[in-house]
Amino acid sequence: MTLNDARNRPLHDLRVSVTDRCNFRCTYCMPKEVFGRDFPFLPRAELLTFEEITRLARLFVERGVEKIRLTGGEPLLRRNIEELIAMLRGIDGLRDLTLTTNGSLLARKAEALREAGLQRVTVSLDSLDDAVFTAMNDMDVPVQRVLDGIEAADRAGLRPIKINMVVKRGTNDQHVIDMARYFRGSGHILRFIEFMDVGHTNGWKMDEVVPAADIIRTISAEWPLEPVDPNYVGEVANRYRYIDGQGEIGLIASVTQSFCSACTRARLSAEGKLYTCLFATHGHDFRALLRAGDTDEGIGQFLDRVWRARSDRYSDLRSSYAADLPKVEMSYIGG
Ligand code: GTP
Ligand code: 5AD
Ligand code: SF4
Ligand code: SF4
Repeated sequence: MTLNDARNRPLHDLRVSVTDRCNFRCTYCMPKEVFGRDFPFLPRAELLTFEEITRLARLFVERGVEKIRLTGGEPLLRRNIEELIAMLRGIDGLRDLTLTTNGSLLARKAEALREAGLQRVTVSLDSLDDAVFTAMNDMDVPVQRVLDGIEAADRAGLRPIKINMVVKRGTNDQHVIDMARYFRGSGHILRFIEFMDVGHTNGWKMDEVVPAADIIRTISAEWPLEPVDPNYVGEVANRYRYIDGQGEIGLIASVTQSFCSACTRARLSAEGKLYTCLFATHGHDFRALLRAGDTDEGIGQFLDRVWRARSDRYSDLRSSYAADLPKVEMSYIGG
């Protein structure tokens, strides 16, 4: 069954946040001043159980979802996450099961994740320079810990590995070339993400966005690049490859070249609310239905209604919106 929204976009990807907690305090995502000791993270009973997530995931797959990505916060902080992976892996029709992580716990967990059935991982890494990286994660986590995680994931076969670098002008943009040099020829795909105005707490300013076009220019001056066709319709990253055969990179230009017209992503929060856009102001409460004892049919019909009514295209409209619309935080919905 294919389910199309009000702009004729099918439902293809489900991003599931499994926790709103994180062991990093990236300044652009969970600034310490806001996410301090007293921050009211979700209590355990509010989180969807693995059974609840799997039950919902099956309904999504029946409606066309082929890819599930686990996110957080930091998904590896959720206890026994391998069990959830094994449960999701058992869903017929699911083609791609992956996870986005900050990499700090990956060295310890890569093997178990692979054994449970995870196919690949995406690791966030904003700089190879310890001073810059620790200032950005604000928890003194050194670069080497993440590099060890990437290596463990590679050994475990969680490939292809993608590396996400959020580029902020004046913070880490001077490291774009170092990152490109380091990952060229490694078999991993480095992706540069334009700093986005998600949530309310990261003090976003357009001046701090480095346009993807500038990044391509900078890198191709060093190592010439050519564009590559997308892997699938609606792929978030624009792909380029090094002409000398040293691999590919991606650019996620959601600020300067929005891609809402092909957006097929639904986002389920850790407490079971479905957001039809990263910038949505309101989530649809699936946990309430699950816990009221609703049937698969009833929950499925609710999902059909929510998706058919979907008309979000925040990034296309960004400039015309007032800056103070209520938005969810990135750490809550997982990017
Ligand atoms: P692949 O399956 O590897 O193509 O993954 P992906 O690019 O869909 O997932 P990933 O989590 O690596 O996405 C990278 C980043 O792109 C996210 O963390 C967000 O910052 C951004 N992003 C992903 N999807 C969207 C989207 O629908 N809208 C916007 N505005 N940004 C998005
Ligand atoms: N802008 C762009 N990307 C962001 N991420 C987190 N916050 C932002 C933001 N404000 C990225 C992380 C990670 C992914 C889940 O989202 O670095 O790679
Ligand atoms: Fe950083 Fe990701 Fe944690 Fe946000 S969720 S603070 S981007 S590591
Ligand atoms: Fe999709 Fe919303 Fe991102 Fe546009 S802004 S691509 S609709 S998640």
